[in-house]
Formats: sequence, C-alpha cells, structure tokens
Amino acid sequence: MSIIYHESTQTFHLTNGKISYLMKVFPDGTLGQLYFGKAVRDREGFDHLLEMKSRPMSAIAGAARNYSLEHCKQEYPSYGSTDFRHPAVELRQENGSRITYFVYKDHTVTPGKPALEGLPATYCESDGEAETLTVRLEDALLGVSVYLNYTLFARESAIARSALFVNSGEQELHLTHAMSLSLDLPDRDYEFLHFSGAWARERFLKVRRLEQGIQSVESTRGHSSATHNPFVMLRRPGTGEDSGEVMGFSLIYSGNFLAQAEVDTWDTTRVTLGINPFGFDWKLSPGGRFQTPEAVVVWSGEGMGEMSRTFHRLYRTRLARGYWRDRPRPILLNNWEATYFDIDEDKLFNIAKTAKEDGVELFVLDDGWFGARCNDRAGLGDWVANPERLPGGITGIAGRVEGLGMKFGLWFEPEMVNEDSDLYRAHPDWVLRTPDRRASLGRNQLVLDFSRPEVVDHIHGMMAKILSEAKVSYVKWDMNRSITEAYSAALPPDRQGEVCHRYILGVYSLYERLTSEFPRVLFESCASGGGRFDPGMLYYAPQCWTSDDSDAAERLKIQYGTSFCYPVSSMGAHVSAVPNHQVNRVTPLYTRANVAFFGAFGYELDLGRLTAEERSQVREQIAFMKEYREVLQFGDFYRLLSPFEGNITAWMVVSPDRRTALAGWYRTLNEVNGPFRRMKLRGLDPALDYTVNGCSVHGGDELMEVGLLTTDSAAGECQAGERPTCDFDSRVYVLQA
Ligand code: DGJ
Repeated sequence: MSIIYHESTQTFHLTNGKISYLMKVFPDGTLGQLYFGKAVRDREGFDHLLEMKSRPMSAIAGAARNYSLEHCKQEYPSYGSTDFRHPAVELRQENGSRITYFVYKDHTVTPGKPALEGLPATYCESDGEAETLTVRLEDALLGVSVYLNYTLFARESAIARSALFVNSGEQELHLTHAMSLSLDLPDRDYEFLHFSGAWARERFLKVRRLEQGIQSVESTRGHSSATHNPFVMLRRPGTGEDSGEVMGFSLIYSGNFLAQAEVDTWDTTRVTLGINPFGFDWKLSPGGRFQTPEAVVVWSGEGMGEMSRTFHRLYRTRLARGYWRDRPRPILLNNWEATYFDIDEDKLFNIAKTAKEDGVELFVLDDGWFGARCNDRAGLGDWVANPERLPGGITGIAGRVEGLGMKFGLWFEPEMVNEDSDLYRAHPDWVLRTPDRRASLGRNQLVLDFSRPEVVDHIHGMMAKILSEAKVSYVKWDMNRSITEAYSAALPPDRQGEVCHRYILGVYSLYERLTSEFPRVLFESCASGGGRFDPGMLYYAPQCWTSDDSDAAERLKIQYGTSFCYPVSSMGAHVSAVPNHQVNRVTPLYTRANVAFFGAFGYELDLGRLTAEERSQVREQIAFMKEYREVLQFGDFYRLLSPFEGNITAWMVVSPDRRTALAGWYRTLNEVNGPFRRMKLRGLDPALDYTVNGCSVHGGDELMEVGLLTTDSAAGECQAGERPTCDFDSRVYVLQA
C-alpha cells in the first residue's frame, strides 16, 4: 500500500494493489481527478488524462484558451469560476459574494488514520492498516484553507474522505456547501441504485439508468430517515452479484444528507455526498473550523456482492467499536409487541421467566416504564420508573430478571419530550420550535433541542443514574419522529442554519459519553424501526432495529436491501406473533425464525401464549442460533436470489475458514407442479466436500457451479416428507465441510 506523490507532475497515486485513485494539481492550481478504479501500474505522470478542448461558450480559467473548469474532472469544485455544476463548497462572504477559488498549497502523508473530532468515522487499530493523505487547498483572498483527507485502507478497496475548513482570514463567513466527497467520473454509463422507503418498508432497492441531469436522494428530516438511506451505488450495466464494476458511496452521518449524481451534456458524472446543503448555513468566524462527516467509497470489479462484503468488513470491524463489536449477540426477547403499554412488574417478570425457560438470554423492557407513560401522550423526558407499574423501580425488575440468570435491557427515547411531562413543564424552551409559531407534534411528542449542551447534560444525568444504579446490560435508543421547526432558542439568528447539524452532534456526544461510561452495555439504535439505520449510528451502537415490520415476508426485502451496505450483525431481527401486527399475515414459525437467524436474533412476543409444540420449536431455534450465531452474524454474506425480482429469496453466510456455511431459502407463494430448481451457492471452497443438513455430501465446486437441488421433493433429502409445502415456506441449509 502506498500513497505516491510525483513532484515533477504534481500527481498523487493512492494504490493498494487493488484500486488506484489518481489526482493531479492542474495548471491553475485546482486539484483534479484523473482516475478511480482497478489498480494500474504507477508512472511519473498521467498528464495525458487531463483532456482539454476549446469549446464555444465556455468560460476560460487562466492562461490557456482551452482550459475551462467546466470540462475538468475535479476533487473539490467551486461554482462560478468557469464551472457551472453543483459545487462541493460554497462560502457566503461579507460582501455577498459566494465565489471561491481553492488551489493547492501543500500536503502530508501520515501512517494510519486520524480520528474526526466529535464525529463518527472509520478507524485503524495499527498504523499499518491504512495511510492518510491530507491535501491543503487555500482560497488566498479569504484566507480559508480546506484540508482534504483521503485514507487508503491496505486490505480493502475503499477510500475514506472528509474535509476540514479553517478560517485564518478576517471575515465572518458562512459555509453553505461543505460536501464530504465529490468525485468526477469520465462517463455516465452507469445505473444509479439507491434505497428508499418509509416506516415499515425501509431500504427497498431502486434502480434507474443514469441520465443527463441530476439524480439524487436526500434527507431533510433531521435524521438519515427511512425515506432514503445515505448510501448509493453506481454500477455498470450488466453488473450482478458476482461480476461487473460497481462503486458504493456511503456517508457516515445520521442527519440531513444529500447523495447526488449530476451528469452534464458531455456525459461526465459528478457524484457528491455530504451534509444536505438545503437549509445548511454554518457561520465560520475568523479562527473557526468546520469538520465534515466522513464518506466512504468502495470500488469492486467483482460485482455488488464483493462491494457489500467490503463494506461489511469495514463497518463491522473498523467502524463499530467496543466490547460487543466482535461478540456474538445475546438472544433477546423484547416485550413491545407482547404488551405494548400494558405492563406491570409481575407481567414483565413472567414473560421473562418463560423466555428464560426456552433459552433466551436477555429480556428487554421497551416503552412505557417511566413517568406518566401509560400511552404515547405522556411521560417522554421523565426517565424515572413509574412506581405504580414498577414498585421496585428499574433496580427491582432488573434484579428479578438477573435472578433468573438472564440479562436485562431497557428502552429510552432520549431526544424527545411529551408536553405532558415534568421535563417540558420545567423547560418549555428546551424544544426545537420557531418563535411565535405552532410547534408541530409527531406521535404527540416534541423534539428536544440537542444542539444545547445543557439539554444533553440533563438527559445524560437521568440515563446515567439508571444505568449505574440498576443492572442494565442493553439499551435500545429509540427516536420516533422527524424534526420540524428546526430552530434553537439558544442560537443567534445567523446561526439557525446550524441547528440540524448541531442536533446530530449533540446526539453523538450523548452516545459517546454513555458508551464510554458503560462500555459493557450493548446499545441498539432505533428510529421507529429503521428510520436512522446509518453508519453514523453503527459507530456507537453495533446493532440497529431494522424495521418495525416484523413480518417474515416483508423482512426479506428489508433485510436484503439493508445488506447492500450494512453487516448482518447490525440488523436487529425478531420472531413475532401471528397474525403479524403490521400486515395481519400468518407465516410459519419456522420461516419467521429462518429470516431472523440472519441478524441480531430475538423474539418479540409472549412465548407463554404459544402451544407446547410451538414452544419446543422455539427451543430448537434458540439452540440452533446459539450453535451457529458466530457464522451467521460474522461470516461472509452472499446474496443469491432477490426478493425484488422473484418469488424466491436466498442468501447465505460462510465462515472465514469456509468450512461452515448456512444458506437461507425462502419462497413467498407456494407453487403447484413447479419446475425443477437448482440454487448456485457462493463463497465455498471448491476443493472441499460439504455435508448438506448432515446427510448428502457434495463438492464445494458442484454446489457453486451445478447448484444445490431445491426442488420440493429433493429438499435436502432428509427433510423430504417432514412437512407439506405452503405459502411463506423456507429452509435453512447447513453445510459443513
Ligand atoms: C418504535 C420502535 O421501533 C418499536 O420497536 C418500539 O420500541 C416503539 N417505538 C415503542 O414506542
């Protein structure tokens, strides 16, 4: 791995043998992009890649008549000095101008990767894992520098980027565009893939052809949201799971974002990714600094599967942190769908006790335990146990659950407040709202002003008290509404454009404090299900509640879509009751488990309401998960058949030594007299023989090239006749070398 700089041509070559990223200082001093993709051999210069042409109507930058930034591929472009595309940076100046011109000043190369202050980011455990190039560009007139950071990982086809602004000039400036990544590509022969949705149908895969004009996804909701995810892909037509070229762009951020592809009429593509400029306005005073979030771009020449596995490795091991990062996750039971708000200590204890009998390891007490929270109209903000429901407090119920030999977990929604709460009555100015206007409610609640340190401190005090007094091993951190009327009573008028970003920084600061004070507590993030499933959250909470939709058939799409960027270990996945509470659908108990096994597994129902036969199935499921969770949660993940394309979905995981693999096969609707079917497996060792479900033996090469027979009558052979086929059928094949 190396970051090479050729002085004679002012060319940077970031290469690790897998990818090359080429940049050059252009004649006018701007930093230009020459190439990003599969590794190429180094040479002194790649100047021939800087193509220039004199074109009518083009404005000229500098001496040469054919030099216009409009036609140059750049690294961190400004608008208005011969480039007309959307910029990476825009600074409003005291005289009203927004024109900037950033040129190369100097650069440094350092081993490893520096941390980003106050922001989540990928990291290294030793300096040999990565190298970081920092290029300083300067606008001399304003005295502003921007430090562009590029970290190249030694073993991954990935580059992490971010920008730091430093105002060393005299002016009060306003930063209105500060993107984390801008990348100009030489053509537009791509498909644009993104993940859109809403509550209970998060991260549905969308594919469209890249065309001239702008295509983008964004959030303006104050959280990354279920509407769009801060992750997009550009793939060459024909690229599939195992072959073809694809780039994934991911933003490590949980607030308003923009992911955009702009194609000009010369078919050049500009990708920009960062904080959404919509509504963003950061005052950069003399001496001030602004650090953008980090963006990660992964390149794969071996299809989307390899791209996803690169993100999975990076995010699982070098973004997620702490005690639980590499540990198989406890099998939990969450009481929400079992009880909703109708709880008391004995009822909860009995649910936990039954779960313990079946092998559940962690009982999670969800919403409704605090203040006057008997429904969703009151109590948020009062993080003290309700004495009528929990006479012994959290210490009491946690102690009783621990007494069963289980761990105890607790739900919080730290960022919110109900008007009917002691907190709101004491501090009505602690919420986000515009002066003299109505504050919009969502789920009967208002959003606390987390841009104010004293608000964060107060919530921290209440949460830390409970976590230190009671035996709490797990925290579910929920967030159930989007931000409206984003205005802080504590900020002056010219800083109101900072509120949304400051809010997220406040959320990160509380996470940072709690996770470092309680390092053994497992945090799971949540936002009405998967409304804030993003890499920023993964830095603090290694798992996230994927969706409030716990129906097995719906979960296939949700988990499949989520898997393009996020690892299996990060996806909270529970078996719930039927008829399902979101879609009223009845699916077999084994299918509900077969879907949830590929995630941070748990239950979300009262097991005491199941029949004896169902209870014995649950016991088998839990025993199965305990045996295989290491591979299921930390193995290499392969998508086999897409729920967005057909009636059958399949995916599999393979252990690092390739001796154990588990393949999940799911058929939505049953079929009569259907075709013979084979399913080609992936990731196995072609030279090894594998037993399938403990009986038939097949070569790894055969399973990958010929395929595993999945025709009903040949279903794993041993299983044949065990149960009749039905709608929402499924199987998990266990392969052992
Ligand atoms: C939304 C979450 O996604 C649910 O799992 C549950 O915790 C409820 N909130 C509780 O209000």
